[in-house]
Amino acid sequence: MEKTFLMVKPDGVQRQLIGAIVHRFEEKGFKLVGAKFMQISRSLAEQHYAEHQGKPFFEDLVQFITSGPVFAMVWEGRDVIRLARKIMGATNPLEAAPGTIRSDYSSFMSRNLIHGSDSPESAEREIHLFFNSSEIIEYKKAIDQWI
Ligand code: PPS
Repeated sequence: MEKTFLMVKPDGVQRQLIGAIVHRFEEKGFKLVGAKFMQISRSLAEQHYAEHQGKPFFEDLVQFITSGPVFAMVWEGRDVIRLARKIMGATNPLEAAPGTIRSDYSSFMSRNLIHGSDSPESAEREIHLFFNSSEIIEYKKAIDQWI
């Protein structure tokens, strides 16, 4: 089973969309194995978005992600990294397919509601950046055998 890191960004928290967003992943059948409501520091933001350092939008991105609390999560499931990205929709809401989170709830790139790891390597890195191992809960759900 794969794990991925997902995060409701400050715009999603302020717009009271945490529940709606979490519901998308629950109804897909993925398992929530870690979650925390938190304020990201500048230093954590810079580490999280390190690969974008030097890009024109980097400062805006760091400002935005530290502008208010976020809801950070770890989800588990078969192919959860790629499938979660499909549920989220394209980074730019103008290109996101109807029915995706970004298409349904957001209208521009710098307020696109959710972050999701884009590869197994980034999932591993981001999970460990935000969570320590005691905060990841391994448990069994009776429904697992049907998914
Ligand atoms: S790139 O250059 O293609 O790798 O960038 P991309 O994957 O499209 O985006 C990386 C993250 O930056 C966010 N982003 C922006 N934020 C603010 N303003 C602008 N113009 C902008 N463009 C991209 C984008 O949402 C990605 O953040 P995450 O948290 O990964 O979704």
